[in-house]
Amino acid sequence: MRFDDIDLTDLDRFAGGFPHDVFCLLRREAPVWWHPPTEHTPDGVGFWVLSRHADVLAAVSDATTFSSERAPGAEGGGTIIEDLPYGFAAGVLLNMMDDPRHHRIRKLVTPAVSPRALARMHDELVTRTRTILDAAAETVEETGSCDFLSQVAVELPIQATLELMGVPSEDRHRLVEWTNATLAYEDRDLGEETTATQEAAAAMAAYAADLIEEKRRCPSGDILSAVVHARVEGEGGKPEALSPLELTMFFSLLIAAGSETTRNAIALGVAALIEHPGQLAALREDPSLLVGATEEILRWTSPTLYNRRTVTSDVEIGGQRLAAGDKVTLWWASADFDEEVFGDPFEFDIRRDPNPHVAFGFKSHFCLGANLARMEIRVVLHEIVTRFDGLRLEGPIRRVRTNKHAGVSHMPVSFTRRPVAAEN
Ligand code: HEM
Repeated sequence: MRFDDIDLTDLDRFAGGFPHDVFCLLRREAPVWWHPPTEHTPDGVGFWVLSRHADVLAAVSDATTFSSERAPGAEGGGTIIEDLPYGFAAGVLLNMMDDPRHHRIRKLVTPAVSPRALARMHDELVTRTRTILDAAAETVEETGSCDFLSQVAVELPIQATLELMGVPSEDRHRLVEWTNATLAYEDRDLGEETTATQEAAAAMAAYAADLIEEKRRCPSGDILSAVVHARVEGEGGKPEALSPLELTMFFSLLIAAGSETTRNAIALGVAALIEHPGQLAALREDPSLLVGATEEILRWTSPTLYNRRTVTSDVEIGGQRLAAGDKVTLWWASADFDEEVFGDPFEFDIRRDPNPHVAFGFKSHFCLGANLARMEIRVVLHEIVTRFDGLRLEGPIRRVRTNKHAGVSHMPVSFTRRPVAAEN
């Protein structure tokens, strides 16, 4: 492969999964690489590609120089390759905001996703998981297989996220549909919108506005109520409510971030266990391996492939000079296979220790849902190995055409129920 052949904005190149061959080459020969614009590159502007663990960590640890928001005075920015308008997405969505405002809003949410707060959700998640798995088992018994993606991997994360946010569970199908539509790139390129994506985003925003109004009138103990009623220091130093746009965007962010990523970790994690029967057997034998298995699944699947930053002042990294205004992409999915950090990175090993993966990012924007995602993966794995035998992939895994997520759209799986399922 030659550098001329690399195009990380050509979404077709991700249709078969993360292009590890490209990133092995980049890590080895050009760890801080200038990606020239191609016919697929939005805005016609090139960007830096950081592929090594150490460089990704160095950049993300300096949030002043590597902004999630924008370069000073720029009209666009954000954390995906295409520029998003400043004041609409960049600078408004929590993950596309810089400190101090980012930190102030983040602080409002942190208590609700602490391990202690989430421990209260654990039993409810187990009950939901059992119901979800029973329904999937019935489909397998009736038809020979189930779509593990839609029947299991999508269901638990969306139900958990809605519970956390105080959203009625029966609305989940519409919300999943809208999120899928806004994140789908089947018939468009980066930076392009279709009627379907616009309609889905508008429907989501209208739904969010109604729910926010309801939480304003009748708050309950959920994250959305907390954010709707919160006051954070505004520009004049006085406490102010979040703007209506910030609230709607916060809602859409949590629905997308909470459901899209975890579903892919669950689906591809179970696929990895099926493809490594020795590891699956070890997990069945020894439930204490669940924690390590969850971390290895996160590393192996790295569901968020990359995030972007924008350079705010000239800086050197990995021996390259980056200029103010440059776009920089941080490839978590490459860092998680860095040979300098992980021995045998292409071995799936649930006993890997240490496992300093960066699937959840690092430092100031570290994933707010990490504890919840970990708990969901652990619960689903535990219930699967306790209740089912003979897990098999019954056909190819269909992927989503995107360079942003390790997205799965279909995964046919079969299994048999164990005669007597242990309850704990
Ligand atoms: C396996 C599942 C997940 C993965 C791989 C993942 C990955 C990530 C990554 C890489 C970031 C950092 C983005 C950046 O630095 O620009 C992030 C941030 C974030 N994630 Fe997750 N995430 C997952 C699950 C969740 C869940 C379940 C939720 C919510 C319920 C969530 C909510 C968020 C939020 C709100 C942020 C922004 C935090 C900030 O900017 O301070 N994520 N996630």
